[in-house]
Formats: sequence, structure tokens, C-alpha cells
Amino acid sequence: MFAERLAADSARIQAHFDTVLAGLSRLPVVQAMGYAVQGGKRLRGFMVLEGARLHDVAPKRAIWPACAIEALHAYSLVHDDLPCMDDDDLRRGRPTVHVKWDEGTAVLAGDALQALAFELCAHEGCGPAEVRADLALSLARASGARGMVLGQALDIAAEQAEAPLTLDQITRLQAGKTGALIEWAACAGARLAGADTAPLRDYARALGLAFQIADDILDEEGDAEKAGKRLRKDAEAGKATFVSLLGLEGARSRASELVAQAEAALAPYGEGADPLREAARFVISRES
Ligand code: IPE
Ligand code: IPE
Ligand code: MG
Ligand code: MG
Ligand code: MG
Repeated sequence: MFAERLAADSARIQAHFDTVLAGLSRLPVVQAMGYAVQGGKRLRGFMVLEGARLHDVAPKRAIWPACAIEALHAYSLVHDDLPCMDDDDLRRGRPTVHVKWDEGTAVLAGDALQALAFELCAHEGCGPAEVRADLALSLARASGARGMVLGQALDIAAEQAEAPLTLDQITRLQAGKTGALIEWAACAGARLAGADTAPLRDYARALGLAFQIADDILDEEGDAEKAGKRLRKDAEAGKATFVSLLGLEGARSRASELVAQAEAALAPYGEGADPLREAARFVISRES
């Protein structure tokens, strides 16, 4: 059920991007934006749409923040892959944006995707003005210097650090790098409905950590062909990760505990939250 729902939501998100991007020019930067949003698992967009369903919010409203978070996430990956960051040439099984075009185009496509994310949150299709302001403000907090960018900065700093990071430091780093956008995605449906975000926030905090542990395990022992990106980069860079600190078995069992915690946080929603429970289990069994 989860796989079908994810595929259907992913197609819906793609169709909406097609419409939005068709209104822009045919410049290389716009083509690069379209390329960058294709091919991902679309888990964050799925979480927005599922969170909205739980609150009886119409998909035609939820599609705006679903595309917003996928645009923001795509921007973060385009910049993460740049030579000045992780210097990666492969993403989602295809050449990265700066390899396919050039660095200038990749920087600008990322910039424009970031701006687009806020434009989508502020779109009247999301609903009343207070809801749109709440979505945009919370996304700004999740993506900037106290969220994703903070995590990325701590990640870069850790490569230069004398001593490897402690478990607490890595947990803080990941809460920004991966956790903040996942948390925003999970809570967006409640925001659209003006409802309490606390249960979905607790779900997402546990899930976000499990997601990053799975990313670190994949980097260590995944199949690059299936993952669609270069692996073994963390150990090569001498990075402290959940795997280097806990060992593979330790990391796996921590991730399982976190998934159980994420599932438990959904108790207030009953069976309606089963797709989100399945998503949590998928996150640690995925191969890409
Ligand atoms: C990859 O995220 C980057 C991290 C935050 C670890 P995803 O694994 O969700 O990437 P896509 O969108 O499916 O390619
Ligand atoms: C990227 O983390 C996180 C963001 C882009 C915010 P990683 O550098 O670990 O992701 P991958 O492994 O390149 O997908
Ligand atoms: Mg990185
Ligand atoms: Mg990277
Ligand atoms: Mg990684």
C-alpha cells in the first residue's frame, strides 16, 4: 500500500512541478531546476500529503507545500554536491547538475529552487493568509542557520576538527542537516489545518534520526548502483558518523528503536496514520 501511495503522490508532485516550471523561461537555469527535482524518492512531499490527509486537508491545497519541500530539498542536494562541498558527480543515478551544466548554473538553479519553495508556501492555493505565513516562516527556520544550513555547516566543520565528534554532537548536526526539513514536511499538514503539530513533530524527530543513520549505513555498505550516488565517502573523508561511532550493528539497532518510537508517536491518529508508519519502516530498509 505504501509503495503505491508513494508512487501516486510522487506522480502528483511531478505533474505540479511541470505546471509551475512551464510558466518560466527555457533558460538552462530553469532546465536545471526541472532536472534537479526529478528522480528522488519524494519522501518529504509524501509526508506533507499524508499529514494533510490525516487532517482532512484537500490535496489541491497540500500539493503546494509538498512541492515546496521537494524544491527546497533539491536545492540543498544541488549545493551539497558542488565541488566546494561534497564534490559529487552522481545523484539519483545521473550526473549532478554542475557536471551536466556548470557550477554557475548549479549555484543559480539551487538559489532559484530555494526562492521557489517560499513562493509555493505563500501561494494562495495553500489557503488563508495566516496559514501561508506560518508555512513560509516555519520553512525559513527549518532551512536556514538554525536548521539545514546549520547542520551542513557543522558537517563541513567536522571534517576539519581535530577530534571526532561525539554522539551528542553528531545527533545535533543531523537534527539540522536532515532532521529539520523532515520535521517540517511531517508537520505541514497540521499547519494547513491549523492543528497541533506535536505528535507529527515527535514522529519526525525519531524518523529523521533513523533516516540519517540509514544514510550513514548505506554510505558504508550500500550498493552504489542501487543508491544512485557515490558511496564510501564518509569513511574516506574520515567523517565521524553514526556508523563510525556505534558500529554497523549498533547503528542498525538504534535505527530500529527510533522507528518504533516514530510509530508510537502516531498513536493519536489511529489507523489513518498507517502509511506514515510504513514510511518509517521503509526509511531504514531502503537501498537508495
Ligand atoms: C538524501 O536525501 C540526502 C540526505 C538528507 C541524507 P534522500 O535520500 O531523501 O534523497 P532523494 O530525494 O530520495 O534523492
Ligand atoms: C546532505 O547530506 C544533506 C543535505 C543536502 C541537507 P549528505 O551529504 O550526507 O547526503 P548525500 O549522502 O550526499 O545524499
Ligand atoms: Mg554533505
Ligand atoms: Mg553529500
Ligand atoms: Mg550521506
